[in-house]
Amino acid sequence: MISDKSTTRKNIKRFFLMIFKQNRKLSIVAFVIMLIVSALDLTTPQIMQRILDDAIKLGKIKLLLALAILYALINIVSAAFEVGSGYIYSKIKNGVTVKLKVKLLKHLGKLSGDYYTNIKSGNMLQVMENDIYIVESMGIELVISLVSDAFMAVIALFFLIRMQWDLLLLLMTLEIALGFTQSKFTKILSRKTNELRDDSGVISNLVQEYISNIMLVVMSKSIPKFFRNYIKKEKDILKKYIHFDMIISGNSANVKVVSALITVFTYGYGGYKIIKGHMTFGELIAFEQYVSMFMGPSMRIIRSNTTIQQSAVSINRIFAVIDEPVIIEQDNDGEVFNKDSNGYIEFKHVDFSYGDGSDVINDVNMKFEKGKVSAIVGSTGCGKSTIIKLLFRLWEVNNGCIYIDRVSLKKYNLRNLRKNIAIITQDLLLFDDTIINNITLENKYVSRAEVEYICKKVQIYDFIASLPNGFDTVIGEDGVKLSGGQKQKISIARALLGDSRVIVFDEATSALDNVSQQNIMGNISEFLKNRTTIVIAHRLSTIRNADIIYVMDGGRIVEQGTHDELICKNGHYYNLYYGENIEMLI
Ligand SMILES: Nc1ncnc2c1ncn2[C@@H]1O[C@H](COP(=O)(O)OP(=O)(O)OP(=O)(O)O)[C@@H](O)[C@H]1O
Ligand SMILES: [Mg+2]
Repeated sequence: MISDKSTTRKNIKRFFLMIFKQNRKLSIVAFVIMLIVSALDLTTPQIMQRILDDAIKLGKIKLLLALAILYALINIVSAAFEVGSGYIYSKIKNGVTVKLKVKLLKHLGKLSGDYYTNIKSGNMLQVMENDIYIVESMGIELVISLVSDAFMAVIALFFLIRMQWDLLLLLMTLEIALGFTQSKFTKILSRKTNELRDDSGVISNLVQEYISNIMLVVMSKSIPKFFRNYIKKEKDILKKYIHFDMIISGNSANVKVVSALITVFTYGYGGYKIIKGHMTFGELIAFEQYVSMFMGPSMRIIRSNTTIQQSAVSINRIFAVIDEPVIIEQDNDGEVFNKDSNGYIEFKHVDFSYGDGSDVINDVNMKFEKGKVSAIVGSTGCGKSTIIKLLFRLWEVNNGCIYIDRVSLKKYNLRNLRKNIAIITQDLLLFDDTIINNITLENKYVSRAEVEYICKKVQIYDFIASLPNGFDTVIGEDGVKLSGGQKQKISIARALLGDSRVIVFDEATSALDNVSQQNIMGNISEFLKNRTTIVIAHRLSTIRNADIIYVMDGGRIVEQGTHDELICKNGHYYNLYYGENIEMLI
């Protein structure tokens, strides 16, 4: 993900403004506290100078005691303020992180089918965990400390100029040399961070793919393939990490040497001035303390540039998700399904293609009516599931229109539309939670009796009841503890429980044997009476009794009618049917 400089600058500004807007009062309090701390700290070298030159040198014990107590008090008060600001930072920081995560995840739920198709879950997890952590650790603390550091450095500089300008000039030359080399390191580091982040995203994806499909990986004997690829990538990135760490070490070594030179000059030239009587010993110590009050904050300001540059990658990645446009608005005040809705769906001359590819759906006309079972059949890849994705508005049609109750789909409130379409797909989504929560999706308005009734109808009740924990059994990630058919039954129960007007079975019974499949479809017919039912199935026996069957080929509807009518046509359907039930012909 490459962003140009102006976008990066804009995003960094946006990020800080976002934190500030969310925590206006707290940020101001923290800022004031930091200024107080800096002001208090700036007085201590003066006191130290007086301790050395006025109290110790002149042997004034009372003055020494008073100054020592004052020195201690100032530091205690300053430390107490720092604890206070630490609490405020923590509060702001953690609040911002949670809000940012929620914002990201919510936004993700609103994006288009195209985005979902191309999304790499490993990269997204990196954004969620790594990037948010990185910006969190930079966060508000950096902004406020930048301002207070600048304040501290300027005042310290003022004292230094007043005390010994020539000594200062010498030190400043070294400082500038340091600043220059640091900015070079910063640039290199930021470039390397970018590269490393992308590489580790690729590795995360690999690992994620391996872990989430571990059972399939083992069964398909793909472990060696995974490791060949994985080890190679890890070896490559290892070299890069070592190189990266060496650059950081080089940077620290550079800082260390220049800092040592600064000390050498302070004491060397300063000592010479004391010997010559141009400076007192107390003044040298105070000067040295001011130097560190100037150097520390200046270094932090320079280093913060590195931190910001490194975090800029993360900030850009976070905003890239947040800025991903919502193609289909969720909360428009559109049409909603009401009690009188018929759930009458019509596709009129619909064309569609994924991205810039060729047409996947071509001039499709279809009708799906309430109380009837409509079926879509056709060979793999002919566009059946795509029809459903268009109905669910994961993608927009290119040409033509889809109507529900004679109103264009685009005029519906998307949230309400999706609530009213229940899809049971081949790729089932089950959560690592109890069976009951997987069926009800934690909808409190569904009673246990209803759940049990439906489970009996889809013939999963006996199985659930036989488990030691019954409906409270946790089914494992992705439902690993269930068979394919059991998962499908649970998904069917889930879909039937909702009050959706439209129910789509997209290969929903493919994992069931013929007898169970027919029994279940018969059992649940009472639930389908007042709903618009669409069934997509490869096994044509499933849809034999459908009221209307659409036969698709290459994105077009090539035949339509009842089973008997289609068989009589002796065309596509006939071939599909007898291709599947070849033994019937013999
Ligand atoms: N997200 C996507 N991006 C790009 N192309 C896609 C996408 N989803 C599906 N396709 C392509 O669109 C065509 C139709 O796919 P679709 O899933 O509708 O087929 P299908 O009829 O449901 O097949 P199956 O019976 O195997 O489920 C296929 O050629 C497929 O490769
Ligand atoms: Mg499909």
